[in-house]
Amino acid sequence: MQFQAIIFDLDGVICFTDEYHYRAWKAMADGMGIPFDRTINNRLRGVSRMDSLEIILEKYDGPALSDAQKAALAQQKNDLYRESLKEMSTADLSDEVRETLDALRAMGLKLAIGSSSKNTPFILGQIGLKDFFDAVSDGNNITRSKPDPEVFVKAAQMLGVAPADCLVVEDAVSGAQAGHAGGMKVACLGDAALNGAGDWNMKSIRELTDIVR
Ligand code: BG6
Ligand code: MG
Repeated sequence: MQFQAIIFDLDGVICFTDEYHYRAWKAMADGMGIPFDRTINNRLRGVSRMDSLEIILEKYDGPALSDAQKAALAQQKNDLYRESLKEMSTADLSDEVRETLDALRAMGLKLAIGSSSKNTPFILGQIGLKDFFDAVSDGNNITRSKPDPEVFVKAAQMLGVAPADCLVVEDAVSGAQAGHAGGMKVACLGDAALNGAGDWNMKSIRELTDIVR
């Protein structure tokens, strides 16, 4: 096999929390009268909460906001987002994801998460994957968000696998850039695949079992 490990992005790859992120940011932006649509939202994929807020504020033309006001807006978004996460359950783990994860593990691959989200532990618990992965690198253990490779490099270190032996799976262009910057090959889904950002651009996560062979 050409890889020893696979590092999965979480939001938009393992589960569809990316839609909940969009709705929560949309509600915050609407409340502030800031134009926000799915095209702007695609720029937030893989990007940390505070960096996402700065991207949204590019369209804000009111009085300058203090750091405390920005923190309050990010908190407002996260509170709304967490309301959606509370509704999630093991039913939100799709058959194709569950079956693909099981198949890859049966092939002897190490499996990790590499996500910018500080909500990663909560989400993994909600969908029944709390103890599934061999390593979890997330927004709680990094200082720089994607496209910086830090989150993936740390995941590889936790696994004890060289970056060149890891495959990253991403739905974000910023995440694909992060994987490449970390010296890893990248298989993309969704928005990143539509943009041709990966070494492989997939229609379904099931394609991974052929890619790693
Ligand atoms: C990434 C999402 O996984 O996590 C981004 O793609 C999000 O959209 C980022 O901003 C941070 O998430 P959280 O849960 O820490 O606000
Ligand atoms: Mg993602």
